[in-house]
Amino acid sequence: MIDHLDEDYLRQALEHDVRIGLTATPKWLPPKWFYDEAGGELFSAITRLPEYYPTRRELDILRRHVRDIAALSRADTLVELGSGTSEKTVLLLDALTSEGTLLAYLPVDVDVVTLEAAAARLAVRYPQLDLRPVRADFERHLALLPRPGRRMVAFLGGTIGNLPPAAREVFLKELRATLRPGETLLLGTDLVKDVGRLVAAYDDALGVTADFNRNVLRVLNRELAADFRPEAFDHVVLYDEDNEWIEMRLRATRTMRIAIRALGLTVVVRAGEDIRTEISAKFREEGLAAELTRAGFAVARRYTDPAGDYALTLAIAAHPVS
Ligand code: SAH
Ligand code: AVI
Repeated sequence: MIDHLDEDYLRQALEHDVRIGLTATPKWLPPKWFYDEAGGELFSAITRLPEYYPTRRELDILRRHVRDIAALSRADTLVELGSGTSEKTVLLLDALTSEGTLLAYLPVDVDVVTLEAAAARLAVRYPQLDLRPVRADFERHLALLPRPGRRMVAFLGGTIGNLPPAAREVFLKELRATLRPGETLLLGTDLVKDVGRLVAAYDDALGVTADFNRNVLRVLNRELAADFRPEAFDHVVLYDEDNEWIEMRLRATRTMRIAIRALGLTVVVRAGEDIRTEISAKFREEGLAAELTRAGFAVARRYTDPAGDYALTLAIAAHPVS
C-alpha cells in the first residue's frame, strides 16, 4: 500500500480539525472523521437502505453507460478517490478490461480497513491487474498520487458534495492540475429534488444514518480521549434551500462539558446546540458544468437515471488556454 497518512499525520490532522471546529461558532466537524472501521461499515449499511437512493441510481447509470465511458476515456489507469468498498467500480474495471486498455487500479481512501479489504477482494478477481491501494486524503495529497499512463479519475457516490463550495473549487482545480490534457474525470453527483425524499435519505427509519452520524463522537472519544456521550445527541437532518445542500447535525439534548483530554480542551455544548457534521450538496446540470469549466474541464457526457435523481458526468481535462 502507498501510504500518505502515517499515524502522526492523521493524529495531527484530527487534533487540528477538532480544535478548530469545536471552538468555532457554530461548531462543526469535517465528515472525513466518520470513516473508521465502524463508520465504513455503517456507510455500507446506509447504501442498502430503501431511503438512500444515490448508490442504486449510480449503479443503474453505470450499468447502462459503462461501455461508452470506457470507450471515451480509453484509460489504462483508473484512480478512484474515496473508493470505499469499490463495489460499483467493478463495472468500470470490467468495461476498461473489455476495451483492452486497463493496466492499473489505484483506489484512494482515508479508511485503511475498507481500502485493504477491497484491495484483497479485487486481487482475487483481477489477478493481472496492477492494484495499488493508496491511503491518502484527497483534499491534500492529489499532487502526490502516481502519474502513470492515461488516467481516468473516478469520484463516485456524490462525495464531492461533502466538500463546501470553496473547498470544492480548490479540489477541482488541484485535480485538473494533476491531469494531463485528454485524461478524464468521472464524477458522481446527487441532484436537487423533492425535499421529502432528500431528507428521508439522511434520516432513515431504522436509524442507521443516526448511528453513522454519532460515530464521529466515538472516533473522538477513542482517538483523543474525549468523553462525549453519543446517545445524548440527537441526529438532526435539514435541507438548506438556499445552498441546496443537506446538513447533518448532532444536537445536544442537554448542556454538557466535554473534556477532550488529548487536546487539554474542555468544550461546553449547550442544550439545543448543534455540531454540524456534514453537508451533502445537491447539484443542477448548469451549475456543475460551470464549476467544471472554471476548473479547466470540458464536459464530454452527462448520464442520468430516468427519474433524474442522480448524474454521472464524464469530463475531460482541457488544454490550458495560454
Ligand atoms: N465511493 C464509494 C464510497 C463513498 S463513502 C461509494 O460511492 O459508495 C465516502 C468515502 O470517501 C469513504 O470511503 C471515506 O473513507 C472516503 N473519504 C472521505 N473523506 C476523504 C478524504 N478527505 N480523503 C480520502 N478519502 C476520503
Ligand atoms: C459519502 N457521501 C456522499 C454520503 C452522502 O450522501 O453525502 C455520506 C452520507 N452521509 C449520510 N448518509 C450518507
